Amino acid sequence: MKGLILSGGSGRRLRPITHKTAKQLVPIANKPILHYVIEDLVGVGITDIGIVVGDTAEEIERSVGTGSRWGADITYIKQKEPLGLAHAVLISEEFLGQEKFVMYLGDNMFEDSLHEVVEGFEASSTNARLLLSKVDEPQNFGVAEIDEQGNIKNLIEKPEDPKSDLALVGVYLFDSTIHTAVKTIEPSDRGELEITDAIQWMISKEKNVEHRTLKGWWIDTGKKDPLLLCNELVLDQIETFHLSQISETVTLKGDVVTGENVEIIDSKIQGPVVIGSGVKIEKSTIGPYVSIGDDCKIEYSSVERSVLMEKSLVSGVTQLTKSVLGREVQIKGKPTDSQEPTSVMLGDRTKVELEND
Ligand code: TTP
Repeated sequence: MKGLILSGGSGRRLRPITHKTAKQLVPIANKPILHYVIEDLVGVGITDIGIVVGDTAEEIERSVGTGSRWGADITYIKQKEPLGLAHAVLISEEFLGQEKFVMYLGDNMFEDSLHEVVEGFEASSTNARLLLSKVDEPQNFGVAEIDEQGNIKNLIEKPEDPKSDLALVGVYLFDSTIHTAVKTIEPSDRGELEITDAIQWMISKEKNVEHRTLKGWWIDTGKKDPLLLCNELVLDQIETFHLSQISETVTLKGDVVTGENVEIIDSKIQGPVVIGSGVKIEKSTIGPYVSIGDDCKIEYSSVERSVLMEKSLVSGVTQLTKSVLGREVQIKGKPTDSQEPTSVMLGDRTKVELEND
């Protein structure tokens, strides 16, 4: 089987982070989401992987390269415009050929093992295997309506009046029938070739479309709150590991990971927390649930439930919470004054001075 990872798209819902950064490269516990996806595929023996890329192609190729570090062979497939998930399949036909494949959205993460998901598919006569997950707000997702026999009857993209709470997860298994489907459907009202329409076509032609419901969590990280939730779920699984010597002036609780050349002075760290290399922390309280990218500096501040990308500075911010900071961001306050909790999403190289009450 081959793998097809979709890493184009426009990432509108994650702006301003995605003005400069591909959303698939936003780090979760200091590792880009896309790297988890590649590891997942390689983990089930899928090493021949196509990555559909758009405007952020260069950045993605820089981060992933040839794939050799995972023992994978990566082929980049350029999509000129984000014309839909089914369009991404359409332009990948030459790469995929007649082989069965796993299509994985490059900004999705889920807890269940991919082994269980792919098991038996290659040898079966199934044309498509879909994954479903129960969600609280089905109107924001592609939703599956199931009939009395337990088969999928209808798939509806973002329904106003959802008939079930089962959303279509961003991991799909297809055989070559999908190539006919994506060539047959028409663009939707939003101008995209929808994968839901392609699968609906397969159902209408009585192709063998089966589904599994996930047991664990599934997150489409394309918005701030789900991204932070995903960071928390992944951090819950880390175990303490230090590449740096931690000074005696530091109180460590819970699981904490540090990279090389980390310097922490007079601070409290409440895990789970991941701290990248070259990070300096002074007179601050960090955690729980914080991922700090390489070469960040945090001083006279308190930070919880946040993702900080590389080279950011947090100085004198007494309650930074539920925030995503891009690269080289500077956020400053005056620790002597009382501050309300600050919750922000800041794009690369943004500078913010907090006003005091
Ligand atoms: P979406 O999150 O559905 O779309 P988007 O990236 O355009 O985001 P937004 O709605 O915030 O503007 O895309 C899911 C994944 O599929 C994501 O990794 C981007 C990728 N994708 C493509 O590769 N090509 C496409 O044409 C589209 C629509 C998405």
